[in-house]
Amino acid sequence: MKFGRRLIDMADRLAEHSETSDGLTCTYLTDAHRAVAAQLCDWMSAAGLQTHVDAVGNVVGRVPSRTGRKTLLLGSHYDTVRNAGRYDGRLGILAALLSAEELHRAGEELPFHLEVIAFSEEEGVRFSTPYIGSSAVAGRFAPAWLERRDHAGDSLDEVLQEAGGNLETIAALARRPEDLLAYLEVHIEQGPVLLEQNCPLGVVTSIAGAVRYTVTVSGTAGHAGTVPMHQRHDAATAAAEIVLAVEQRCSMPGLVGTVGQLAVPAGAINVIPARCVLSLDIRAAEDTVRDAAAADVLKRIKEIAQRRGVLIETQELMRTPAVPCAPALQDLLSESIAACGASPLRLVSGAGHDAVMFHGLTDIGMLFVRCGNGGISHSPRETVSAKDADIAVRVLLEPIRKLAGRHVT
Ligand code: HGY
Ligand code: MN
Ligand code: MN
Repeated sequence: MKFGRRLIDMADRLAEHSETSDGLTCTYLTDAHRAVAAQLCDWMSAAGLQTHVDAVGNVVGRVPSRTGRKTLLLGSHYDTVRNAGRYDGRLGILAALLSAEELHRAGEELPFHLEVIAFSEEEGVRFSTPYIGSSAVAGRFAPAWLERRDHAGDSLDEVLQEAGGNLETIAALARRPEDLLAYLEVHIEQGPVLLEQNCPLGVVTSIAGAVRYTVTVSGTAGHAGTVPMHQRHDAATAAAEIVLAVEQRCSMPGLVGTVGQLAVPAGAINVIPARCVLSLDIRAAEDTVRDAAAADVLKRIKEIAQRRGVLIETQELMRTPAVPCAPALQDLLSESIAACGASPLRLVSGAGHDAVMFHGLTDIGMLFVRCGNGGISHSPRETVSAKDADIAVRVLLEPIRKLAGRHVT
């Protein structure tokens, strides 16, 4: 298991950098995040890659080709959710890094440039803006995002300026579609399917589309002891109805809805909540299913606001379409899994990934790796075996070599 043990140990090393004393939290451009970037830089350079950190904090390792013109991108993200698992995103970066190192060690020349990109921000935790890293590389960074603020009130613009990022330097990161050969991403499945089917790896057929909102409910504060229940305009009970409306509307096959954040800012135990802020995340494998559910939830929100005499404002934060993975890459990845002695299972990804940013620019392909503990993710209980990590690196080497064989220019 030449690669597997090393990959797990490297993930453990990266997990030492956290914003919290207990658990792993590594959000965009914090000290922990910069420490992980520095470590990835060191490892990429040691692996023989030409390495730099770009204007939005992506760590880019490049193996230039002497003969080729196009670039094969391998990537995933190194930021995390709060109290995260240590393999979400990072497993894909480390698998790509170890593959590039192996090719370099073996002196295997490729007829295309190879880039390993550790994307700086995919989860969207600090600024409620996912895909900052990959959107910049894909030329899809939205200038309006610069106005967004974190909980401390710092704007993305201010924080990026410190890291040398501005609209000009960000725009310069965009890759031209004609320069790209393909985009491949290895990622943990973050679900139970591979575990239940006893498959170490799977091939992603498509990535679910998602729409995210922030919802602000404004009611009327009041004394918890003196205001009769029928006279209240309670922001928290209105929010509670919204949470249940999301659950009720999205509880059908192929659709999910989540309220991951729910807060009464500056609330007090004896004050009727005047304000409640919550998040909405609605996803489906079909965009029409997702959009119909979102429209129904927004309609229910209007009705709740009317009946309860509160003001409810919704702001759309992100909308990514469901994207298919390129059939040719699905086949190539399936053959590669079979060549490494495992049975290739194809499955849909309910989770979003950086790959979605490259759909439409170049062919995208994703390899899923089995998760233990029932497939749990976005939790410290997230787990991957060294054995499966080892197979993932071996399988990832296959399509790179096969693409090389086809693109001898
Ligand atoms: O939310 C997601 O699907 C991913 O973990 N960013
Ligand atoms: Mn994630
Ligand atoms: Mn991820």
